[in-house]
Amino acid sequence: MDFRGKLILAPLAGVTDTTFRRLCRENGADVVVTEMVSAKGLLCDPSRSGRYLDYDEAERPVGAQLFGPDPGEIAEGAAEVARRGFDFVDLNMGCPVRKVTGGGAGAAILSDPRRAGEIARAAVRAVRIPVTAKIRSGFGTEKDAYLAVARELFDAGVAAVTLHPRHRGQMFSGSADWGHIAALKKAFPGEIVIGNGDVRSPGDAARMFAQTGCDSVMVGRAAMGNPWIFAALKREMAAACGAAPGGSGGSPASGERLALILRHGEEMFLRQGMHGIREMRKHLAWYSRGVPGAAAFRAELPGVTDPDSFRAAVGRFF
Ligand SMILES: Cc1cc2nc3c(=O)[nH]c(=O)nc-3n(C[C@H](O)[C@H](O)[C@H](O)COP(=O)(O)O)c2cc1C
Repeated sequence: MDFRGKLILAPLAGVTDTTFRRLCRENGADVVVTEMVSAKGLLCDPSRSGRYLDYDEAERPVGAQLFGPDPGEIAEGAAEVARRGFDFVDLNMGCPVRKVTGGGAGAAILSDPRRAGEIARAAVRAVRIPVTAKIRSGFGTEKDAYLAVARELFDAGVAAVTLHPRHRGQMFSGSADWGHIAALKKAFPGEIVIGNGDVRSPGDAARMFAQTGCDSVMVGRAAMGNPWIFAALKREMAAACGAAPGGSGGSPASGERLALILRHGEEMFLRQGMHGIREMRKHLAWYSRGVPGAAAFRAELPGVTDPDSFRAAVGRFF
C-alpha cells in the first residue's frame, strides 16, 4: 500500500461503520479505517467485537484499527485482522478516554515510548500486511513526546504514523497544533507521516499539506454528515496545484444529498434492521447541520423508528 498523497477517513467510534466508510470512499476518500476494536475483545469474544470488522470489497483499501496495552494480544489481534483480509492494521495509541487509558491502552502508551515500540514490533512481526499507528502529541503536556514515540514506532517497522497533534488532556478542545506535524515530518523525512486534526473546510487539506509537509491527510469530524467533504478537499487541492478551478464549499446539490441520505438509511436497515434506522438518527442530525430548519428537524428524530418514518422525515426535510 502506498500511504502518500491520500485523503484518509479517520477512525471514528460509533460513526465509521462499513456503510459510512463506503459512502466516503465513493465520495473521494482514498483510504478508510474501521473504528477502534479491542484486541483482547476480538480474541475473547470474536462474535461481539468482530462485528466492528465487517467490511465490503468496495471499501478497499481498508484498514482495521486495534487497541490494547499488551504486545502479545496486539500481535494475535493483528493476525486475525490480516486473516480477515484487511489491507493494513492501524494501532490506536491516541484514544484519550479514561476507560481505554485506565487499562494502559490508547494515549496511555505515549508515556512509555519503549512500550509503544514493543507493541508495534509485535504487530509487525505477526503479519505481512502494513502496520500503521495513530498517536497524539503526548499523554501529559511533556514536550515532544510524539517524536520519541515515533522514533520507536518507525524503528519497529511501522509503514506510517498518523499524528493528531493534541495532548491527551486536551481531548478535543483548543486547536490541533499543526507545528507538531511539521516537526514530525522534519525529524523523519524518509518516513510516512499522516497529518490529522481540524481539517474542516475545503482549503484545509491543501493548507495542511503545504504547511506541514505531511504525506497524507486524515479527516474525522468534518466527514460526519458530510461524506462529500473528500471530493471538495480534492478539488481545492487540484486548484492549489493549478490543475483545476477551485470549488465553492463542500455541499452537494440537494438532489444528490437526498439520494445519498436515503441510500445510507436503506443500507443501514438492510444490515442492521430497526437498529440501523435508530442509528441513522445521529447521522440525520449531522446531515442537517447548516440546513435551515435543522433544529425543528432534530426535534422530530425520535419519531424516526422504521423505514417508512425515515423516508418520510428525510423526504420532507431534505
Ligand atoms: C466521535 C469520535 C470517535 C472517535 N473514535 C476514534 C477511534 O475509534 N480511533 C481513533 O484513533 N481516533 C478516534 N477519534 C479521533 C479521530 O480519529 C481524530 O483523530 C480526531 O477527531 C481529530 O481529527 P478531526 O479534527 O479531523 O476530527 C474519534 C473522534 C471522535 C470525534
